[in-house]
Parts: sequence; C-alpha cells; structure tokens
Amino acid sequence: MVQIFLDSANLQEIEEALSWGVISGITTNPSLMSKEAEPFELLVKKICSLMQSNPVSVEVLSTVAEGMVKEARHLAGQAPNIVVKIPMGIEGLKAVYRLNRGEEKIPCNVTLVFSVNQALLAARAGASYISPFIGRLDDIGWDGVGLVREIVEVFSRQGINNTRVIAASIRHPRHVHEVAAAGAHIATVPFSVLKQMARHPLTDIGVERFLSDWARARGGEGIGH
Ligand code: G3P
Repeated sequence: MVQIFLDSANLQEIEEALSWGVISGITTNPSLMSKEAEPFELLVKKICSLMQSNPVSVEVLSTVAEGMVKEARHLAGQAPNIVVKIPMGIEGLKAVYRLNRGEEKIPCNVTLVFSVNQALLAARAGASYISPFIGRLDDIGWDGVGLVREIVEVFSRQGINNTRVIAASIRHPRHVHEVAAAGAHIATVPFSVLKQMARHPLTDIGVERFLSDWARARGGEGIGH
C-alpha cells in the first residue's frame, strides 16, 4: 500500500498529521528547514523523536561528494531514523556510493530526480529512496505523474527492489491518487494537500444534513447521555 509522508519541517504540522494516524515518514529540504525558527540540529532531533522509528529525510548542503559524505555522517549521528537527502548529480552519486559500501550503510534519498536515467543511476549507486519532483516537471509542461509511472515500470522490469520511489513536489490531491495508481511506493505531501485529501464538500454537506434531520426529529437527544 502506498505510504504517505509529510513534506514539512514544521513541528505543529507534524504533530497534527501524526495524530491522524496516516503518515509514515517525513521529508524536508533546505527551503522547508529555512522557514522554521528553531536551530537546525535541535529541529532535526525534535522531528526525528516525534517520528520515532519512521524515516526522516534531511538534505545536505554541500555540492561536492567529500562534503556531502561528511555532512551525511554528521546527520546520521543525530538520530537512528535519519535518511540523508542527496541531490542528484555526479557528486551526489559518488556520495551515495561511498555511504552505502562496506559496513557504514547510511540510507540515502536521492532528490531532484527528473528522468528515468537519473533514477537508474541513483538506484545503482545504492540509494534507498529516489524522489522524482512531479510538480516541477508539470510546471515546465512535462508529465510528472508519467515519469513516476515510467520509473516504477522500469524498476519492476529490471528487478530493482531496494530503491523506493517517493513521488515529491506534490501540488494537489489529484497528484496523490495518480502517483498511487502509477505504483509509487510513497507520496510525500505538504500539509495543505494532506488536509485537502481528507475533505470533500459532499462529505461536509452530508454530515450537516444528517445532523439537521436528527435535530429536527429528535431535538436534543444524544448518544450515551
Ligand atoms: O519534497 C520536495 C518538495 O518539497 C518540493 O516541492 O513544491 O517546492 O516543488 P516544491
């Protein structure tokens, strides 16, 4: 079953979404982290603690492999459920490869994926997750959901089972059910989209009608009191 991650670094949003029992992980990026007032490392620790053993993706800032590896090791030391987010590219591939060979095995989420070839290279280098950005592809007139579908099909045909596909840059609820139908393992959604997913105007109208019918016929009579 597709998992829903929350794409947020906001503690209130994370706590609220956790209380709904629907989220299985968190993804962040430097833009999301920069919106929060808490010091970076304290925020990382608080998010990881709220999420218990569920994965929390936190992105490196370095643009060269050496620096990415150093930052990844530091981040991985902050909490056991850290997944290090590494931007796609040659330096990113080198970093993922180094972090996953030998004993170390720090799980990596390769981010900013926009093609099947990038997805294949990231999987080959040892990524535990890849994040195709579907909204940003739609923005330039490409087909973000179509990319997710192609990656899932190629991975399945090639027997790639150790790399999970996270559909990211989700902009609206329709994206979520479309990537689920396309076979994404995970959809990471902003809190605004998560709220939209739970709602439907006909649900609200239905509840209102049930309650007014009841009140008209049975006055203040309640259940259990
Ligand atoms: O998970 C990546 C996501 O945060 C990017 O979303 O809307 O900035 O393209 P967006």
